[in-house]
Amino acid sequence: MQAAASAAGFRLRPHAKTHKSPRIARWQLDAGAVGITVAKVAEAEVFAEAGVDDIRLAYPVPTATASRVVDLMERVRLSLCVDHLGVAMRWSEVMVNAARNLDVLIKVDVGYHRCGIDPGRSDAVEFVSRVAALPGLRFLGVLSHAGQSYMASSDEDLIRIAREEAATLRALVSAVRTSGVPVKEVSVGSTPTASCSFLEAGLTEARPGNYVFFDLTQVNLGSASLLDCALTVLATVVSTPSADRLVLDAGSKTLSSDDARGPGVRRGFGTVCPDVSRQVSDDALVIERLSEEHAVVSRLPGATALEPGDRVRIVPNHACVVANLTDTLRLVEGDAVIEDIPVAARGKNS
Ligand SMILES: Cc1ncc(COP(=O)(O)O)c(C=O)c1O
Repeated sequence: MQAAASAAGFRLRPHAKTHKSPRIARWQLDAGAVGITVAKVAEAEVFAEAGVDDIRLAYPVPTATASRVVDLMERVRLSLCVDHLGVAMRWSEVMVNAARNLDVLIKVDVGYHRCGIDPGRSDAVEFVSRVAALPGLRFLGVLSHAGQSYMASSDEDLIRIAREEAATLRALVSAVRTSGVPVKEVSVGSTPTASCSFLEAGLTEARPGNYVFFDLTQVNLGSASLLDCALTVLATVVSTPSADRLVLDAGSKTLSSDDARGPGVRRGFGTVCPDVSRQVSDDALVIERLSEEHAVVSRLPGATALEPGDRVRIVPNHACVVANLTDTLRLVEGDAVIEDIPVAARGKNS
């Protein structure tokens, strides 16, 4: 990802929500990332403590966290997003009182319809100008997340989403510049659209997160192959009640209840690779349902013989959630554990 971003002239700022680990963030920074992205102030606090010095909160951070944000600004270069004038004005007040300047980006809705200003609204440029004029705020630019890419039905669809996102941002930025407000940064970020966004002009930064591990959703979307998926769950068969059913010791507290998304979606809560040394799925094994500590797997008659005590590898549907469910990731090569990696920011949701 770093190589692709650099080749396209983009700055890479990976979203660290996927790994929540200062150790992995350090690898990304050493490879050339300009900083990291997080959603929550509590995550930023963990990464700041670990020495990451450039952190972007790509989130409409509530002003209730103001004292913690000001405290973080003493230690790191911090930026955050706004999409509401009243909130921007409150941040402005906080920063004037603290005699600080906060870097802000305006979040733009590029079709996901989650957060962000509607770029089509008649006063979009005025909104940007008003935020840019607020004392105590330093307006850096605009930021978007094309989360609708997870609903894409084909490669063409992904290309279209990335193109439309870039075109929307370019049009807004051009109008804002024409109004006399300089725009330094134009930041996009989603793993499925990353390679398409790198072909677009006028963008400066990419913030993909999931790519650091990939998962079954990315396989379904065509962003990765099963072998590209770096995060797997090692599970043990704990029960084989019948010829067509077995149970693994990894339930919703390990795999999460997230479905896989994307076209060509596979059934189940992750794909089972019955030979732990080879990341090859066995489609005769389907994780049909989860309870907290159990995965109930249906197996076709004659499918891989598995007995209690046997281990399997599961490629999960959504790696970002799975990492957040464990204290430690184990870096392995074959059977050898090379390093235990603490997921230091797990559960840091405030
Ligand atoms: C604001 C924002 N930026 C970047 C990302 C990273 O996208 P992805 O998970 O597709 O890598 C996300 C993911 O949720 C996000 O919400």
